[in-house]
Amino acid sequence: MRTVHVELRPDVVFQLLEAVAQPRPNHWSRVWPTALAMSRWLLDQPKASLPKEAFELGCGMGLVSVTAAHLGIVTHSTDREPLAIALALENAERNGVVGLTTSLLEWSDPITTSAPMLLASDLVYEPTSPDAIYSLVHTAGLLAPGGVLVMAGPTARAELANTLVRRFRDVGYAHLCEALHVEWEGNTDTVELHTLRRPA
Ligand SMILES: C[S@@+](CC[C@H](N)C(=O)[O-])C[C@H]1O[C@@H](n2cnc3c(N)ncnc32)[C@H](O)[C@@H]1O
Repeated sequence: MRTVHVELRPDVVFQLLEAVAQPRPNHWSRVWPTALAMSRWLLDQPKASLPKEAFELGCGMGLVSVTAAHLGIVTHSTDREPLAIALALENAERNGVVGLTTSLLEWSDPITTSAPMLLASDLVYEPTSPDAIYSLVHTAGLLAPGGVLVMAGPTARAELANTLVRRFRDVGYAHLCEALHVEWEGNTDTVELHTLRRPA
């Protein structure tokens, strides 16, 4: 384990545990530029525009969920990897952030809940991901009518994510996209952030 210092804004700084030297697949174990970009985006939103609850898919070590909970949003963080959700909870506790709960969720699992905001940071990197996420979010109804899916990933591999965006647009979701630049560990990345609002 190592602790990383993550400054989202001068007044919002987290000390977060990363799990180093994990066996693959280990995408869950570290801070990714997309999570930084999405967290800063959340902080930039007018408070009144944010819902009271959010649900994160594939939360990894939890930066986005910790930011949402820091903003007072009751946040449920999920991942298929048990160590990831344990780390997300630990990271919330270490930073004095309350209002975050966790559970294991593989995207093909049946669900019985829905949320007004879904957070999906850097999730679309396997060929099966678009189908799995579409089925969970839209077909199974994880995203409530009128709710918003906030989805982001690196511009450098946007093709797969764009196939998923097109599917949501085709069934009437209102779509906005913005490019965000983020510096992390000496590199500058560009991240595409999509907001997709489900018809009411
Ligand atoms: C690149 S990491 C991104 C983690 C975090 N969202 C972030 O931006 O830092 C992808 C995450 O998605 C999770 N994941 C990938 N496929 C999944 C699936 N089919 N069901 C649930 N979680 C999945 C991984 O365990 C991992 O935590």
